[in-house]
Amino acid sequence: MNWGMKNRLSLIMGQDDGRCVMLAVDHGYFLGPTEGLENPREVLTPLLPFADSVMLTRGILRTSVRPEFRVPVVLRISGGSSIIGEDLSKEALIASIEDAIRLNASCLAVSVFIGSKYEHQTLMNLARLVDEGERYGIPVLAVTAVGREMTRDSRYLGLACRIAAEFGAHIVKTYYCNDFDTVVRSCPVPLVIAGGKKLPEKDALQLAHDAISSGASGVDMGRNIWQSKTPVSMIKAVRAIVHDGLTVEETNRTFIHESTNANVTTNPQK
Ligand code: 5RP
Repeated sequence: MNWGMKNRLSLIMGQDDGRCVMLAVDHGYFLGPTEGLENPREVLTPLLPFADSVMLTRGILRTSVRPEFRVPVVLRISGGSSIIGEDLSKEALIASIEDAIRLNASCLAVSVFIGSKYEHQTLMNLARLVDEGERYGIPVLAVTAVGREMTRDSRYLGLACRIAAEFGAHIVKTYYCNDFDTVVRSCPVPLVIAGGKKLPEKDALQLAHDAISSGASGVDMGRNIWQSKTPVSMIKAVRAIVHDGLTVEETNRTFIHESTNANVTTNPQK
């Protein structure tokens, strides 16, 4: 591995513990103005100081993150379909490697839709992006996207993660599932988990905790952070689980309850 690749990977995966809290705000690339993310700049400003990296499209990076802000960028490079279009898996590469370099991306993200109509096309996107990333020392995050008809079990996710790693992805993002340790064992590169749909805070923290305990290297979490009523407390709690090994009860007590109490104190009339 060349120096640049190692350096960028360490920016994403952490230099000390090999773990990461990646903040996902790329949802608009196929969902448009998702609930809670209507104004990306407002969402990002308070959260970025607590994120190890941020995953987003070039449009949101340019418009919503100050260039002076030192947060490693995971740039979404695949897209091309919308939630109301023909098929979400019909993706191509939507930004060039030159633009990714201009934007100082530390990592490139591409979705692969295993078992979908456009599986082959999305795997070719991954293969091409890995070649381009290798040329310039930029790692690739493969997002194992799950179609509506796919079951999120260890057999399917294990298949998707392993294929992504075989294609040369440096990091793979997937979903937590029962027997997650078997998914981790059969994937030779670090795995990070998506948060998925909004859950009660305690359940989302439990998900993060269980994933880390089963061998995940971190989270790439979006909705469960910025759709929370207390997003900053939530990202702090997720950090405490990923980096400090706190239990769900400890983080819930320290961060979530603390923020509830703080609201009461600062807004006594509410
Ligand atoms: C969409 C993505 C999202 O970034 C990913 O699903 C993580 O966000 P969330 O925690 O909201 O699921 O890659 O394709």
